[in-house]
Formats: sequence, structure tokens, C-alpha cells
Amino acid sequence: MQIRLLYGTETGTAEILCDDIKDELDGEIECEIQSLEDVGPSDLSTDALNVFVVSTTGSGDLPFTAIPFFDKLQAEKPDLSNIQFAIFGLGDKTFAATYNFGSETVMNKLLECKAKQVGQRGIFDAASNEMPEEVALPWLRETLEGASVS
Ligand SMILES: Cc1cc2nc3c(=O)[nH]c(=O)nc-3n(C[C@H](O)[C@H](O)[C@H](O)COP(=O)(O)O)c2cc1C
Repeated sequence: MQIRLLYGTETGTAEILCDDIKDELDGEIECEIQSLEDVGPSDLSTDALNVFVVSTTGSGDLPFTAIPFFDKLQAEKPDLSNIQFAIFGLGDKTFAATYNFGSETVMNKLLECKAKQVGQRGIFDAASNEMPEEVALPWLRETLEGASVS
């Protein structure tokens, strides 16, 4: 199995989390990591699961590396019905009114473009005592059980 880890980050945590996931799955699942800054809708994988890892900044805003990708989805409205994705959000419950809005915004836009979501959106609370990978890895393993990509 192959997965594509696509991160949207403001201060680097989402990128580090993708590195940790790749290290943990090494030898088991082939992982390619890319910044969403370098990805357009037509670059999404049709044969691997696209796993988005997206934080939130400002007041429920998208992190800067996710904005170009989101803007392209908004402008081009591509048909992504041949794409499978999963999404994991990084947020902080201290921002109660906008908790994890970034990942929710990207998820809703992908669904609007008819991409097929695998599993439920996973979310992480930076105000908790856990590390992001302690939440993301079990979430990903459970999600992959429901994925039908090779
Ligand atoms: C200036 C700032 C604003 C933030 N705003 C939100 C927010 O509105 N909602 C939320 O859930 N988390 C918010 N966060 C928390 C971040 O999403 C969280 O720390 C995350 O782990 C950062 O990931 P990144 O380093 O990949 O950007 C904010 C953090 C900062 C520094």
C-alpha cells in the first residue's frame, strides 16, 4: 500500500507530524510527503490514498501553505470523484469557537469537488497532554483498514 501525505502548516507541526508518520510506517507502507503549496488538484493521486494533515491559524483560518491549493479548488471546481482522501487536523481547543476549522474547511471543499472520504476526519488538540503522533497514528491505521487503494 502507498499513501500520499499532504501537509498544510503555519508553524511546521503538520510537516513534522508527516515525517513522524513516515518514519513509523517505514517498511510497512510507502509514504510520499509533499507540502500542499506544491500540489494542485490534478496532482492528487488516483491510486494512492491522499492523506491531508492540516492545521488552523488566525481565527479559524487556513495555514498559509494550504491556501494556494484551496484557492485552486475554489476557482477550478475540479471533479475529484476518482480521488480518495483522509484528513487529519491540528488545532487547539483554547480556540473554542474555531477549533480545527482549517481541516474542516479543506474537507468540505474536497467533498464539494466529489472526492471520496475514507474514514472520519481525525483531530488533534495541541492543548492536550498528548503528542500529535499518539493520536494521528492510531487514527491512520484505523482509516487505512477502510481504504480500498493499493
Ligand atoms: C496565531 C495562532 C492562531 C491559532 N488559531 C487556531 C484556531 O483558530 N483554531 C484552532 O483549532 N487552533 C488554532 N491554533 C493552534 C494551531 O492550529 C496548533 O498549534 C497547530 O498544532 C499548529 O500546527 P502548524 O504548526 O502545523 O501550523 C492557532 C495557533 C496560533 C499560533
